[in-house]
Amino acid sequence: MPRESTNLPEYWDSYKPHRGEGDQPAPEVDRFAWTQYDGHGPGAEFLGAPRTALELGCAEGGEAVYLARSGVAVTALDFSTAQIARARNWWGGTPGLTFAHAEACDYLTSSPATYDAIFSIWGAVWFTDPDDLIPLVAERLEPGGVLAFSQAEPIEDYYGPQPMYGNGLAGRKLTLLRWAYSPQWWADLLKRTGFTDIDATILPAPDPDDVGTLMVRARRAG
Ligand SMILES: C[S@@+](CC[C@H](N)C(=O)[O-])C[C@H]1O[C@@H](n2cnc3c(N)ncnc32)[C@H](O)[C@@H]1O
Repeated sequence: MPRESTNLPEYWDSYKPHRGEGDQPAPEVDRFAWTQYDGHGPGAEFLGAPRTALELGCAEGGEAVYLARSGVAVTALDFSTAQIARARNWWGGTPGLTFAHAEACDYLTSSPATYDAIFSIWGAVWFTDPDDLIPLVAERLEPGGVLAFSQAEPIEDYYGPQPMYGNGLAGRKLTLLRWAYSPQWWADLLKRTGFTDIDATILPAPDPDDVGTLMVRARRAG
């Protein structure tokens, strides 16, 4: 599969298009959510008490805004031009909040900044090869800093990169990859990469027959 045809940022330009373009009013930001179900799961406390944080794949940026309003210095990045433009238009003047238009691995490689917490909510961590991304994350966390992320519960026994047609089955070919692994696989990778206090689990949905949420949190040794 040609790498250049996978995970193009343009795919995400139409993510949440129902919210409209940048001239629409900003949505309410009154909570920090990790899961796909309203009012379900932990909130910002899952990150501990960081002074600085980096979000990987923020799209509209609501969670980054929530954190910045609570006093955390937040950088929120996304490689979609449209998502970052919308987020900047809505929340560009928020004290303590910076948006970055960047690909996650590129940013972590090129920026020398380090953070107390790096997090991703169904974001870049789901759509980037973890063997590439997680070591870069470790390098940009302060000793004792927290990596936390959430994404869909993996389908049991179907692990690894999962290809999809991003433009649907009658559209121009665009292959989108997301990476799905068991909690134990994540725990092993994080341990190998120098993380401690690893908590990788499936949070069941409010109705246990529905799709759960993979929740992972770990601390950089230090
Ligand atoms: C499913 S959306 C989730 C967005 C947001 N966290 C939310 O909960 O609504 C995934 C987001 O991650 C961004 N993304 C995916 N891979 C990325 C990468 N390698 N670097 C930067 N952003 C990425 C996409 O542009 C998209 O906005």
